Amino acid sequence: MRFAFFDTKPYDKPSFERFGAEHGVKFKFYDTKLTEDTVGLARNCDGVCTFVNDTMNANVLEGLADLGCKYLALRCAGYNNVDLKAAAACGLRLAHVPAYSPYAVAEHTMALLLTIIRRTHKAYIRTRDFNFLLNGLTGFDLHGKTVGVVGTGRIGRVFIDICKGFGMNVIAYDKFPAKDSGITYVSLEELLAQSDIVSLHCPLTDETHHLINCETIKLTKKGVVIINTSRGALIDAECLLEGIKARQIGAACLDVYEEETDYFFEDFSGHILHDDILARLISMPNVIVTSHQAFLTEEALNNIAETTVLNMKQLHDEGKCPNELIWKNGEIIHGS
Ligand code: NAI
Repeated sequence: MRFAFFDTKPYDKPSFERFGAEHGVKFKFYDTKLTEDTVGLARNCDGVCTFVNDTMNANVLEGLADLGCKYLALRCAGYNNVDLKAAAACGLRLAHVPAYSPYAVAEHTMALLLTIIRRTHKAYIRTRDFNFLLNGLTGFDLHGKTVGVVGTGRIGRVFIDICKGFGMNVIAYDKFPAKDSGITYVSLEELLAQSDIVSLHCPLTDETHHLINCETIKLTKKGVVIINTSRGALIDAECLLEGIKARQIGAACLDVYEEETDYFFEDFSGHILHDDILARLISMPNVIVTSHQAFLTEEALNNIAETTVLNMKQLHDEGKCPNELIWKNGEIIHGS
C-alpha cells in the first residue's frame, strides 16, 4: 500500500517509516498540508495520511476519489476537519487513532502546573543570565490544595492519579460520571467554587464550547489556576484574558488555543502576530502557552504510527477495522 503523507514534521517520519516497513505500507512524505491545491500529490496512492489541520472537505475528497484513492488514514483522534458525509458519498473509508498515550497528556498537564506555580519558567531565564535573585519567585504547595478535573475519561483519570500522588484533594465533574471509580463528583458550579486549580479534560462539543466564559469565571475562587490541555474552544480566550487582568484568575496554562490553527505547529518567530489576544496572553508573566505539544512523547508517536498503519492494513486486508469512522443515516458509527 502507498500513502501520501501530508503536513509532515521531522518527528513524524521515523516511527511511520519503521511501522510502515514492517507492514508493507509505503509513505510519500510532503511538508505541505492537504488542500484543494495539493490534492494531486496523492496520484498513484491508495490513500492519504492526514493530521488535524489538513482539509478534507467535499472538493478535496472528490479529488482524491477521482485519483483512485480509497482510504483516509487520520493520524489523530479528532475528525472535525473531515466531511464524513462526503467521504461516504465518494466511497472513501477512513479510520482514526482514538487514544495513543493518556500519560503523555496528563504528565504534560502536571508539568505546566508545576512550572507556573513554582515559576520555573522565570527562574530558568534568570539563572541563564547569572541572576540568582529569588525575589518574585514565591510559589505555593500543591499538597492539600483542591484540584477540579472536568472530564474523567482516559486522560482525566491519569491526571487525577498524579494529583493524588501530590497529596491534593481531587473533585471532578463529568456529564457521564464513572461508576465505582472512587472519584468525588460535584456539579460544575461546585467544582468552580471549590477548586484552587481547574483542569479541563473533556472533549469539545456544542455543550462544552466556552465552558470557561465570563460568567463561569465569576464562579471561580479568586486566584484560581486554569489549565487547558484539551481543546482551545473550551475557553473563551477573551474572557480568560479579562479574568487574568482583573486578578480573578491567578494563572493559566494553555496547551491549546481557540484560534490555534493559524499558528500552532509552525514557526512565526520574526513575524508580527496578528492575534492580539494570543500575543497578550503570551506576554503575561502568569501564563504559559505550549503549542499543542502535550501528546508529543516517543511512546505516543509510536502508538500513533502503529495504530494508523494497522488501521489501514485491517481495512485493506480484512475489510473492517475497529477504528473506522462510518457515516450512516446522519450519524457517526465507530468500528466496522
Ligand atoms: P475520553 O473520551 O476518554 O474522556 C472524555 C471525558 O469527558 C469522558 O469521561 C466524558 O464522559 C467526558 N465528557 C463528555 N462530555 C462532557 C461534558 N459535556 N462535560 C463534562 N465532561 C464531559 O477522552 P480523553 O482521551 O481523556 O481525551 C480528553 C481530551 O483531551 C480530548 O477530547 C482531546 O480534546 C484532548 N486531547 C489533547 C491532546 C493534546 O495534545 N493536547 C492529545 C489528546 C487528546
